[in-house]
Amino acid sequence: MHPPTLRRHALALILLRDSDGKAAGTRQLDIDADAVPDDVIAEPDGVPGRTERPLLVAHTALRQRSANTHEGRATLLHSIVHIERNAIDLALDAVWRFPGMPAAYYRDWALVAREEALHFELLRDHLATLGFRYGDFPAHAALWEMAEKTKDDLLARLALVPRTLEARGLDASPLVKAKLVAAGDHAAGAILDIILRDEIGHVAIGNRWYRWLCAQRGLDPVATYAVLAERHGAPRPRGPFNLAARRAAGFSDEELATLDDAR
Ligand SMILES: [Fe+2]
Ligand SMILES: [Fe+2]
Repeated sequence: MHPPTLRRHALALILLRDSDGKAAGTRQLDIDADAVPDDVIAEPDGVPGRTERPLLVAHTALRQRSANTHEGRATLLHSIVHIERNAIDLALDAVWRFPGMPAAYYRDWALVAREEALHFELLRDHLATLGFRYGDFPAHAALWEMAEKTKDDLLARLALVPRTLEARGLDASPLVKAKLVAAGDHAAGAILDIILRDEIGHVAIGNRWYRWLCAQRGLDPVATYAVLAERHGAPRPRGPFNLAARRAAGFSDEELATLDDAR
């Protein structure tokens, strides 16, 4: 039997329901496998595979807990484990779903998927030291919703997932880290440092391919972003912004200035 193509391998991984198996498999993804960009793959049922737990609820139904209690800190860590779990699916989805891109595009997102799987494992294992497992708390459903809304348009996907949701993660990271470190959890702080470093790279990859597609289609990146954000109901940018991280991820001065306007 031939080894699977990169995109078919990504599809097989996204269909896995068990988070631990999905993360372990994704960390083994061979990013040098042939992507076969012109393979148009029909979506099977069950994308993304996931288990009954965590229970998915509207994010307004989730209570904010103080990180200063044991369970509050576990709840906060669980919410980040959940984000990384979804990020694995989002990166795998970017690989298998969208045909016709250069080979480097698939390689980039396969690398992102591998890093998201590592983030998931680091946080899952840390959560275990507090006596909890992924699935022990409810979690919010919003992350995959944006993937659903943008599954027919890669430009919108790139605008709204890496360049909006993951970029908001850059803004949130220092605040969440400060909370955990203030609660004495230096191990979690060190994991968040690794994640922030990698996430700058993910947003940069989002920017790279967003601009590439805009250039292909003769679109202005800034004006087009505003149109797509409006059309798909993207969350409005809310400060404080991590401008250094956003700049390192390749947002232009013009784009950073639009953030200041929204503050
Ligand atoms: Fe991540
Ligand atoms: Fe990421």
